[in-house]
Amino acid sequence: MEYKKIEINYQLCQLEELSEVEQMVVKKSIEATNTAYAKYSHFYVGAAALLNNGTVVMGSNQENAAFPSSLCAERTAVFAAQATYPNEPIKILAIAAKTDSGLLKDPITPCGACRQVLMETSSRYQKPFKVIMVGKEQALVLHDNRGLLPFAFDGSDLPE
Ligand code: THU
Repeated sequence: MEYKKIEINYQLCQLEELSEVEQMVVKKSIEATNTAYAKYSHFYVGAAALLNNGTVVMGSNQENAAFPSSLCAERTAVFAAQATYPNEPIKILAIAAKTDSGLLKDPITPCGACRQVLMETSSRYQKPFKVIMVGKEQALVLHDNRGLLPFAFDGSDLPE
């Protein structure tokens, strides 16, 4: 029997410790929470993707009375980015969330389905990207999105 270990490196930073560009993307993710359609959960999530060409594409969660038809902010942003700029890898993805009482104190982390999509996005462009999960004062910074999904299914087992 062999024991193995997976380690994930991340940083917890004050928002002011982020670079100017990172702070700009964070601001956009917070701004994107305003466009959420969260009629059922009242949980407003925003995501902003900085692309290689400098464009920032924003997304927010879009809910539906048929609950599973809803889409998270992260996938809304990433799919919009890829549909609009199919040749531009993502450099940074920032995620923020608020309730009716304001921005969440602690950083929000993406759901499993979004982690899977982020993983495919980085493998599609062969470029891992930074994920900044935003809280009111602190941000959790993961320099490589792949850290969000150990043992990911990457499609390599699918028949050609
Ligand atoms: N949601 C996101 O948009 N992103 C996340 O990372 C977690 C959850 C949305 C889905 C649903 O509209 C609401 O937040 C409550 O789960």
